[in-house]
Amino acid sequence: MSISELTNHKKGSNKKFSFRLKAEVLKTLLDSARDGIYVISQERFEYVNPAFSAITGFSEEEILSADVNFIFRQVHPDDRQFLMERKEARKEGKPLPSLYRLRFFTKEGRLKYLELSTSPLPGGRVVGICRDITELIEMKKQLRENESLYSQLIENAQTPIAIIQDEEIKFVNRAICSTFGYEKEEIVGTKFVNYLPESEVNRVLENYRRRMSGQPVASPYEIKIKHKNGSELFAEVEIGLIEYNERPAELAIIHDITKRKQTEEALKRALEKLRQAFGATINILSKLVEQKDPYTAGHHRRVSDLARSIAKELGLSSDRIDGLRFAASIHDIGKIIIPAEILSKPGQLNESELMLIKSHPQVGYELLKDVCFPWPIAEIIYQHHERMDGSGYPQGLKGEEIILEARILAVADVVEAMASHRPYRPAHPLDMALREIEKKKGLLYDEKVVDACLRLFKEKGYRLK
Ligand SMILES: [Fe+2]
Repeated sequence: MSISELTNHKKGSNKKFSFRLKAEVLKTLLDSARDGIYVISQERFEYVNPAFSAITGFSEEEILSADVNFIFRQVHPDDRQFLMERKEARKEGKPLPSLYRLRFFTKEGRLKYLELSTSPLPGGRVVGICRDITELIEMKKQLRENESLYSQLIENAQTPIAIIQDEEIKFVNRAICSTFGYEKEEIVGTKFVNYLPESEVNRVLENYRRRMSGQPVASPYEIKIKHKNGSELFAEVEIGLIEYNERPAELAIIHDITKRKQTEEALKRALEKLRQAFGATINILSKLVEQKDPYTAGHHRRVSDLARSIAKELGLSSDRIDGLRFAASIHDIGKIIIPAEILSKPGQLNESELMLIKSHPQVGYELLKDVCFPWPIAEIIYQHHERMDGSGYPQGLKGEEIILEARILAVADVVEAMASHRPYRPAHPLDMALREIEKKKGLLYDEKVVDACLRLFKEKGYRLK
C-alpha cells in the first residue's frame, strides 16, 4: 500500500492538490520519525518506515517480503508467549492495553528493549509504533545498581550517618546503632531532638531550622548526643542538604570525638597543674631573691600586680598578661649574684658596686635565656631598666626597640620602688612617684603606659598591696 493510498482513505477533502500535499507531509513525518512505524495486514507487514528498519536491523525489503512470524522469531523467547496471548486475545476481540514492552534481537543479534503501541485500522489492519527504549532501560538499570552500591556503602560505612527530614530521623546506618547503642527500629521515625541532652536542644534545633530555610550555618559543628546507656558522647557533625523521597532533607555525617575530647580535657588538666607548678616555682625564685635583699621584700609581688593591672588597662591579651606577670615576679632575679651587703648597704654605692647592681638585668637574662618559656620572659627581664630616650641600661635601647611588656614593667617597677622604703632613702609618697612618671612621660617612660598607670591610681582606685 502506498502513502497516497493511505491518505486517500480520508474523507471530507475534495481537492487533488490537498491530497498530494497531505501525502507529502505524512511521508516526511514517517521518514523522519525516530520511532519505528509499521502497518500489518493479514499476517504480513504492509508498510515499515526507515526508523523501524534501523531499530530492527532488517531492510524494508527483508521485512515486507516475509510474513510476521519472521519478526516474531526475533523476539526474546521469554516474551514470545506474551505476544501469542496478545494475538489470541485480539482475535477474540478482547480489550488489549495498547502499550506494551518486549525484548527483541536485532538482525545483528543485539538485544533491544522495545516499547510498542498498536491501534486497529479499517480493513483488519493494525498500525504500530515501536520505540527503542534500550538506553532508557540500561540507564535505569545502571541507576538501580548505583543506588544499591551507594546504599551498601552508606550502610556499611564505619562513620555514623543519618538522614533527617521534618525533624524526624528517616534513615540510620549500622554505625549509628553500634556507636549510640540503639536499634534501627527504635530510632527511625522518631524526632532527632530525643537524642540530644536538654542543654543542646535549642541550639541544634535552631541550626537545623536555619539550614532548612537556606540560611548559612557553620559545618562541621560539635554537639553532644545521648547514648542509650545514658552517657553523653561528643560528636562533630557534618551536614549536607540532599533530596530524600523527592523532598529536601539533611544528611548528617557524625564523627564520634568523645575520646579526643577526653584527651583534650586530660591535657587541659595536666596543663593547669603544670601552670600551677610553674607559678609555685616562680614564687620560690622570687622569694629567694627577696631573702637576700630584705628591703625589697614584697617588691616582686607588688610590681607584678601593678604591671598586670596596667597591661589589662592597655587591653593586652590574657596570655601576654600571664607572661608579663611571671616575668615581673622574678624581674630582679639577676640580683642573686650580688652580695647581700651591697644590696642592703645604706647610703651611696661606689662605682664598682653600682656596676655590679646594674648588671642584674643581664645576669637575669643569662640565667633564663635557654629556658623554653611560651613567653619572652628573659627579654622582658633583660630590658626592664631600658628607657624610652635610650638612657637606660644595659643595652641603651630606645622607644619601640624595647618590647611593650618591658616598658610596662619599667613603669610598675619605678612607681613601686619610689613609693617603698629603700635603705638609702626614705619612701616617697605615692603622689611623688606618680608626679615623677608623669613628668618623664615620653622621655623615660612610654606615654600610653604612664597614662594607663595614672588612670589606675587616680580614677580606678588602684593601691599598691
Ligand atoms: Fe631591676
